[in-house]
Amino acid sequence: MLCLGVESSCDETALALVQDGHLLCDLVATQEKMHAIFGGVVPEIASRIHLQSLFDLWKQLLDTSGIRPGDVDVVAVSRGPGLLGSLLMGMGFAKGLALGLGTRFVGVDHLLAHIFAPGLEQELPLPALALLVSGGHTQLYLVRSPVDHQLLGRTLDDAAGEAFDKMAKLLNLPYPGGKWIDALGRLDAPDPDLFPVPYLDNQNLDFSFSGLKTAMANYLAKYPELRLEKWSPGVDLKEIVARRPHLAVVCSSFNQAVVKGLLKKVRRALLGRHLKLQGLIVAGGVAANQALRQGATELAQEFSLPLVLPSLPLCTDNGAMIAHFGYLLAKSGFGHDLSIDAIPRGKPVPHDLIRFSS
Ligand code: KG4
Ligand code: ZN
Repeated sequence: MLCLGVESSCDETALALVQDGHLLCDLVATQEKMHAIFGGVVPEIASRIHLQSLFDLWKQLLDTSGIRPGDVDVVAVSRGPGLLGSLLMGMGFAKGLALGLGTRFVGVDHLLAHIFAPGLEQELPLPALALLVSGGHTQLYLVRSPVDHQLLGRTLDDAAGEAFDKMAKLLNLPYPGGKWIDALGRLDAPDPDLFPVPYLDNQNLDFSFSGLKTAMANYLAKYPELRLEKWSPGVDLKEIVARRPHLAVVCSSFNQAVVKGLLKKVRRALLGRHLKLQGLIVAGGVAANQALRQGATELAQEFSLPLVLPSLPLCTDNGAMIAHFGYLLAKSGFGHDLSIDAIPRGKPVPHDLIRFSS
């Protein structure tokens, strides 16, 4: 079964092909440079670039993979949650293709696709506790199968990735800034007294990063000398830190506060022994963070659970995860008709899969 995946939920346009669980081709056109000018994603610009990029990527996909359009069995598309205008570009393209080629069609939950992405690299130990940390979402799931999952906790305000991006913006680092805070933080040890670990004083599995974000913004306002006057691509981070030694400690401490806030809730869920878990999955853009990967590794060891971390290219948005999750759904006999809508950020993705034959 050959599944084409279409991703356009934010600022990456991506197409990928998965054949029977194996990745054949994975193409992405990133808009990072364009949005970096504005310090964040401008939705209308994102939609227009998706519209321009999708057809070019499709031609490139056919050239590099050697497949013919008629070889595609299933078209899978990221249906949300994400930026509505951006999603609609991918959705229109995918529906048109499925209609024209007469293939099966499936709308994929972008967040679940992140969680199942490492399934392209290793077998997933299910049922698993899955922490999804991205630019727009921070959610904790119990995942039993591609069609059987339960949301255990979610952020009540900002996502962890949003807090990273905000900090980077205040420091005049390029968008998206998480990777720069991560890299600068690796250059020194954290000071645990610098930032509060967010949202611990409760018994739930939800997250909150707005308090930490405010504490960080207040701190940076007190020390404006930490801000870069200007960013030059290719600059050596050690040079930046040599001129502002405290910057690495601040970034490292912020990394640590986010990671502690995330893993405190993961630990709480792991202690709920009734879950009968076989593994722990950490996925999404922020899963590329070195401090989080290290912390999750230690936590999984403590609970003697296999830990699944996607390789770095599979952490951030990509088409492979959509093609893979679409393949898993289609293989199990599920799909959609062409009437489904895109789901904007903040709205739950409906459980409206239709059972076809497998
Ligand atoms: O999953 P993703 O590519 O897009 C969404 O679905 O949102 O996640 C993007 C987020 C951004 O906030 C970005 O700053 C963050 O992931 N990110 C990181 C790192 N790499 C990407 N955050 C912390 N450390 C990183 N190494
Ligand atoms: Zn994502």
